[in-house]
Amino acid sequence: MSLSKEVILNTGYEIPLTPSTHGQLGFGTWQSAPGEVGNAVYEASRPDIGICMRLPIGMKRAFHDIPGLKREDIFIVKSPPYGYILTAYSKHRPEAVEPALDVCLAELGLGYLGVGERELDTELPKSKVRSVGVSNHTIKHLEAIIQGSGAIPAVTQFERHPRLQSEDHCKKRGIHTTAYSAFGNNMLGHPLQITHPTVKEVAQAVSRRVGKDMSGAQAILAWSQVGGHSVIPKSVTPSRIRDNFNQVDLTQEEFDHVNTLGLDRRRFNIPMTYSPAWNINLFGEREEEPAAHQVNLGL
Ligand SMILES: NC(=O)c1ccc[n+]([C@@H]2O[C@H](COP(=O)([O-])OP(=O)(O)OC[C@H]3O[C@@H](n4cnc5c(N)ncnc54)[C@H](OP(=O)(O)O)[C@@H]3O)[C@@H](O)[C@H]2O)c1
Repeated sequence: MSLSKEVILNTGYEIPLTPSTHGQLGFGTWQSAPGEVGNAVYEASRPDIGICMRLPIGMKRAFHDIPGLKREDIFIVKSPPYGYILTAYSKHRPEAVEPALDVCLAELGLGYLGVGERELDTELPKSKVRSVGVSNHTIKHLEAIIQGSGAIPAVTQFERHPRLQSEDHCKKRGIHTTAYSAFGNNMLGHPLQITHPTVKEVAQAVSRRVGKDMSGAQAILAWSQVGGHSVIPKSVTPSRIRDNFNQVDLTQEEFDHVNTLGLDRRRFNIPMTYSPAWNINLFGEREEEPAAHQVNLGL
């Protein structure tokens, strides 16, 4: 139950499973310091480790240094909306998206992205972006996007983990889910979920079952992939990157045990709590109630 598989998107393109990629199990780089990103991406690109999603400079080094590593071995997601070239240069103006994409591709030294950002009513050439995705949308937002644009995104990326479990709405719509902050994020200084007593218990149960030491991180990554979803743990630490790509599966009982964390629901990425705060109610969380701005669905 839950070892990585390839993912076929609703565009017909796949997130591949090959000796150097892990299908559902990806790799995140957000909040890595500039100097750390290159090494982390490089580490995650090694054929014995895996796929990388969202990247900068280290990619070029990986292509240069790793024998046999090919562009098609790696599935790259340009993840909106935080501070990366495509969003920054286009400023969400549809006519500026393709030129911004060209800048982005040139900077990365790549011919195309696996998934890119969709600006409403913007058609991006398939030769440059194979599939389009969205991020940080509730079901209501997603349906408004579909209604407003007439297009069904291929991928939706949002915070999802044992303490923030999601409905299966996206799957019913044929939209692939990518989970971020699987471990709970490191921004707020809270203990990561991999140290939660229940997660540790499950990791110990898995270790006894498979006869080798398995970590809480591995238990959460296995949990995250059940149902066909993908997950993009971030790390800049080579030993942890290796640990995260060393996969296990969970029994139904182990999966159900991790599920009990959902009783203590918690979202970690709430822009109203950032410093500086983003004065907008994105998710309808209690902390967002004082926000001056709401999401405009334009319907
Ligand atoms: N679309 C969006 O709005 C959005 C928002 C948030 C995140 N994301 C994406 O999701 C990715 C991951 O989410 P995240 O950065 O919030 O956090 P996360 O993956 O839940 O947690 C990252 C933290 O876990 C630590 N860690 C990783 N593997 C570990 C292991 N095996 N043992 C112990 N600690 C481990 C990392 O430490 P070290 O790095 O020090 O090793 C880091 O402190 C991001 O990089 C980004 O690509 C997208």
